[in-house]
Amino acid sequence: MKKIFLDLGNQPLANNFSKKYIPPIFRLKLKFDTKSKLVMINKHMEKERMFNKSYPYRSSKSKLVRELFKELSKKIKKKLNPENILEIGCNDGSFASNFNKEKVVCVEPCSDVAKEAKKKGLRVYVNYFDDLLIKLLLKNHQKFDLIFSANTITHISDLNSVFANITQILADHGTFIIEEPSLLETIKKNSYDQFYNEHIYVFSTIALQNILKKNKLEIYDVENIKVHGGSNRYYIKKKKNKKIKISLRFKKNLNLEKRFGINTFACYKKFSKRVQKSKKELIKLLKKIKENNQKIIGYGASAKAVTILNYCNLKENYFDFFYDTTQQKIGKFLPGTRINVLKYKKLRDNKTYVFLGAWNFYKEILKKEKSFYMNSGKFITHIPYPRII
Ligand code: SAH
Ligand code: TYD
Repeated sequence: MKKIFLDLGNQPLANNFSKKYIPPIFRLKLKFDTKSKLVMINKHMEKERMFNKSYPYRSSKSKLVRELFKELSKKIKKKLNPENILEIGCNDGSFASNFNKEKVVCVEPCSDVAKEAKKKGLRVYVNYFDDLLIKLLLKNHQKFDLIFSANTITHISDLNSVFANITQILADHGTFIIEEPSLLETIKKNSYDQFYNEHIYVFSTIALQNILKKNKLEIYDVENIKVHGGSNRYYIKKKKNKKIKISLRFKKNLNLEKRFGINTFACYKKFSKRVQKSKKELIKLLKKIKENNQKIIGYGASAKAVTILNYCNLKENYFDFFYDTTQQKIGKFLPGTRINVLKYKKLRDNKTYVFLGAWNFYKEILKKEKSFYMNSGKFITHIPYPRII
C-alpha cells in the first residue's frame, strides 16, 4: 500500500528555466510504499518533458563532483580493472572521460549535453535507457564488466524494467555501481528539497535491495559519500555470482537504517511535521530580513531551490536574483517564479543576505567566498533547520 505523508504544494518542472514565467503545473506529494519501503513522488512526468535538448544541468559545474568521479575512476581501475564500461546518464562526460575512451560507451538522452560529452571524445548513444536501446547495445557490444550510473536511476519511473535490462547487459562477473542521494541523510538533514519532478525516488539501502532482489541482483557494498548533501554509492552484482562477498559496510548501512526506522511509516510522519515547521521558520526568517529593508539573493539556482521557493511561496518579493555559473540557466527565471538567474559574480556586498540554493556545496562555496564571509557577510540555509550562518 502506498501512503502519502507530505504535500509540497504546487510545483513546476524544476529544471524548466525560461525567459518567460512558467507557472507551477502539478501538485507534489510524497508517498511511502509499505511493501517495498520505497519513497517516491506521486506524479511521474513524461521523460521527454524533463530530459530533452534544453536540459540545463551540467555535472562539471561542481569541483566536488569532478573530484569524486576522478577518485572513483582510479579506484575502479585498480580494484575492478574493467575491459568495457557502460555509463547511463553520462551528462557532459565528467565521469566517463576519466577512462580510456576505447573502453567506454555512454548513454545520454539530452542532445545538447550529449554533444559536450562527444566533444571529450566519448562514444554516446543519444537515447533513453530502455528496451530498444538494450537491443542495440547487445548487438553492438560485449556484455559489460562495469555499468555505472550516478543520479540517473531515480529519474526513471519503471525501476523493474531498468534492473531487468541491467541483468541482460551486465556480464555475469560484472559490477553495477549506482550513486544516488541517501534517504537516511535526506531525513536527518530535513532536506525535503531533494524531492522534485526528476527525483521520482529517493532510495534507502533497504528499499533498493528489495527492488534489486526481484531482478536477480543484490547490493554487495555501500559507501557513504559527501556529494549532493549525502549520497550512497551502491556496488551491485548478480545474485548468482557467489565469488564476491557481501561487505560488513552493507550490513552496517542496513542496520543503521533499520534502527532509524526508515522502513516504518512513523518515520515519515515525523519528517512531514519537521518539514512543515521548517517552512514556517524559513518564511519568518526571510520576512524579518525584508522588514529591516535588507536585500536577499540566492546562490545556486538548483532544482532543489525550486522546490523550496515554490513550497514556501518565497518568490520575487523576497529575492532580488539568484547567482549561478550554468550558462543554460543565466538570463532566465527560476521555474515557478519571476526571480532572474544572473551570471555568477564573487560576493562583495556584506550587507546582502545570501540564501544557499546549493547548500550541498557549502564548503566549496565558502572557500570561493571567504572574503565575503570573513567580512561578516551572511549566508542563510534551511539545513538542517532555517538559520543564518
Ligand atoms: N551522472 C551525472 C548526471 C546526473 S543528471 C552526474 O551524476 O552528475 C541525470 C542525467 O541522466 C541527465 O543528464 C539526464 O539527461 C540523464 N537521464 C535522465 N533520464 C534518463 C534515462 N531514462 N536514460 C538515460 N539517461 C537519462
Ligand atoms: P545541484 O545541487 O548540483 O543540483 P540540483 O539542480 O539537482 O539540485 O545544483 C547546484 C547549482 O548551483 C547548479 O546550478 C550550479 C550552481 N553552482 C554555482 O552557481 N556555484 C557554485 O559554486 C556551485 C558549487 C554550484
